[in-house]
Amino acid sequence: MTTPAYDQDFWEQLWARTLREHSDGIARRPPNAHLIAEASALTPGRALDAGCGHGSETLWLAARGWQVTAVDFSAAALGYGRSAAESAGPQIAARIDWVEADLGIWIPQSAHFDLVASLYMHIAGSPTEMVRRMAAAVAPGGTLLMVGHQPIDPATGAATPAAGQQQVSVADAVAVLDPSAWELLVAEERVRATAGSGVDAVIRALRR
Ligand SMILES: C[S@@+](CC[C@H](N)C(=O)[O-])C[C@H]1O[C@@H](n2cnc3c(N)ncnc32)[C@H](O)[C@@H]1O
Repeated sequence: MTTPAYDQDFWEQLWARTLREHSDGIARRPPNAHLIAEASALTPGRALDAGCGHGSETLWLAARGWQVTAVDFSAAALGYGRSAAESAGPQIAARIDWVEADLGIWIPQSAHFDLVASLYMHIAGSPTEMVRRMAAAVAPGGTLLMVGHQPIDPATGAATPAAGQQQVSVADAVAVLDPSAWELLVAEERVRATAGSGVDAVIRALRR
């Protein structure tokens, strides 16, 4: 089986099909458990949701008072997110700026965000470069939260559904986040809720 390119065309088609065929499941999907665990105690400010998909984490953040820049290169996913936000009410919708852009080349504003969250981004280039670019967008005192599904299940050595994808690992974060500039609060692998699907790398760091 060939590995997909995970480029814009791949994601656009996947989102269009998923939203067409599974819109009920998508609408019911709760916000990401790692985000809830790691960000619930943070004081709302400016957030970047990088690779926001259909926006359930963006909506969760906006409902908690965050002003969110939600970036993805799938127009279908962003369109779904935008209408879900409008249905959630004008206050929530007004807190979200939906941006269609390729995170491989889009440069976020430097040191601007109180929270940069990037969950399950399939990185086309180097994961360490992506960590570096996301980290540069975090304001002093702000939080970087990155989550990546790991390609090998450490319990069994078997390939997971993330095999062939480049997602962030704990090693990538440790390699990039200089301890003089970052306090690494969480850098660990957590067993995923779906049995047999391996682990997620969860990285939460505070910019000094
Ligand atoms: C596995 S989904 C995760 C979506 C969401 N963060 C979540 O946790 O459900 C990966 C998302 O990243 C987006 N994506 C992948 N590569 C991207 C890129 N280079 N630029 C912008 N978005 C990208 C895809 O369109 C997709 O919505």
